[in-house]
Amino acid sequence: MNNEVDNREQKKLVGVLGQFDDAHTLVHACEALRDSGVKKMDAYTPYPVHGIEKAIGIPRTILPWIVLSIAAGGLCIGLGMQWYTNATTQLLPFWSGYEFRISGKPMFSLPANIPVTFEVIVLSSAFASFFGMLVLNGLPKLANPLHRIPRFKRVTNDKFFLMVDVGDDKFDASQLRNNFSDWGATDVEEVFQDQTDWKLPAFLKTFAVLALVLMLVPPALIFRARGMTYTGTRLHVVPDMDWQVKFKTQTEGPLANNNTTTEFFFQDIRAQFDDLPGTVSRSDQSGDSEFFKGIRTGSDLHSSHTTPAVLASNQEETAQEETTATTEATAADEPDWVTTIPSQVKVDRDTVLRGQRQYNIYCAVCHGYSGEGNGLANNRAVALSTSGESAWTEAKSLYDPTVIDQPVGRIYDTITNGRSTMGPYATRIKPEDRWAIVLYVKALQKTRKTAVSKTTEDNSAGDKKDSGK
Ligand code: HEC
Repeated sequence: MNNEVDNREQKKLVGVLGQFDDAHTLVHACEALRDSGVKKMDAYTPYPVHGIEKAIGIPRTILPWIVLSIAAGGLCIGLGMQWYTNATTQLLPFWSGYEFRISGKPMFSLPANIPVTFEVIVLSSAFASFFGMLVLNGLPKLANPLHRIPRFKRVTNDKFFLMVDVGDDKFDASQLRNNFSDWGATDVEEVFQDQTDWKLPAFLKTFAVLALVLMLVPPALIFRARGMTYTGTRLHVVPDMDWQVKFKTQTEGPLANNNTTTEFFFQDIRAQFDDLPGTVSRSDQSGDSEFFKGIRTGSDLHSSHTTPAVLASNQEETAQEETTATTEATAADEPDWVTTIPSQVKVDRDTVLRGQRQYNIYCAVCHGYSGEGNGLANNRAVALSTSGESAWTEAKSLYDPTVIDQPVGRIYDTITNGRSTMGPYATRIKPEDRWAIVLYVKALQKTRKTAVSKTTEDNSAGDKKDSGK
């Protein structure tokens, strides 16, 4: 017990703190204190209490006046600096002015100097308000003795506090205790300041010393560098591509005049690599227009191409339909579509399976796995558009008469370049796979044809197609 008293005496009294249960009693206590002539006091509340500034008698802040006077100083400095540097030849100890003669204009005129002056005013008043606020609030503060009081923590929750500073002329600890109780304080206690509160933590001091020492290293290095010669390459902080060896296409790896390296980037000396396997080219589709575009180059219909086995049975039909299709095509200015799968594409079971795989990946979301146009994305979009939440053109059924009749070249073109509201897939599916999909689509269509008009269908072809699927 004695010990505690001793400790307390070592500490410095900073004020008397009263705790209140509600804002009402707090405001009344503030007013009573203010009326008794106490000036140095402060209230702490969980939320902003209306009228508390008046109750404590806090005067209006003088910050605006500080800012105004500093801004006025800024105005003088801004204008004066321009007048001095541009409109006089006055010699001051540090530097002399220089008359700025421009086509007979006056040496000094206010409008021309307003922008700079304005900026100086804004800058100085911004600094004045920021630093003025800090100084007036006594910030930054390393510690506050109130934080040592356990019950003070509730100030952010549900309790109200009022503290009278020991520096006030009317300060009298014992009388304040009584007054606080009279005014409805639920608790009163004296607040002490521990000298250790103001001590910087040891790690901060170490850090500050270390930082200071480290700060001296770069200037020291710079000064050293200025007084010596160095034969190595310059220090290059951000190398970017400055030292990168430069290659041109169609050349050997390193440039002939670059003697600094002897190693080749690629083992076969070339500067440029071939396309990686599987690369889908967007531009290199010249030459074979049948394969890349699905459009016939010559007039020769079946030329050297072998007729795909799967489509063999279809051949006669296609040929018949072609007459009608061609007349339509010329009317609509359609290109001369390829009617058979190009020779580069092997028409066999593997290709159809590959086509199925690709179709299921790229097309089934809209056209459905069976090709009826009932894919998941399509169904969802249709549902949304019937409820008016979006607009959607239904994905076509691949058994639509207008699609069934199409030559393979046109379907290939639909995949490559898209068609009306359907998007293009040229950048996502390589030509071989596009043809594989066409083959699969044709196979799908044949399943329906077989079912609907079995009588006219060649059975053996149907078997082939089934095995193909
Ligand atoms: C994002 C949905 C969507 C995807 C994926 C999609 N399509 Fe379509 N497709 C449509 C829509 C919608 C139409 C109808 C276009 C129109 O008439 O405006 C259509 C039409 C077609 C047509 C008929 C074109 C014509 O001549 O009228 C074919 C053939 C076709 N698609 C094939 C495919 C193939 C093959 C794939 C896979 C590579 C595919 N589609 C992927 C939405 C899609």
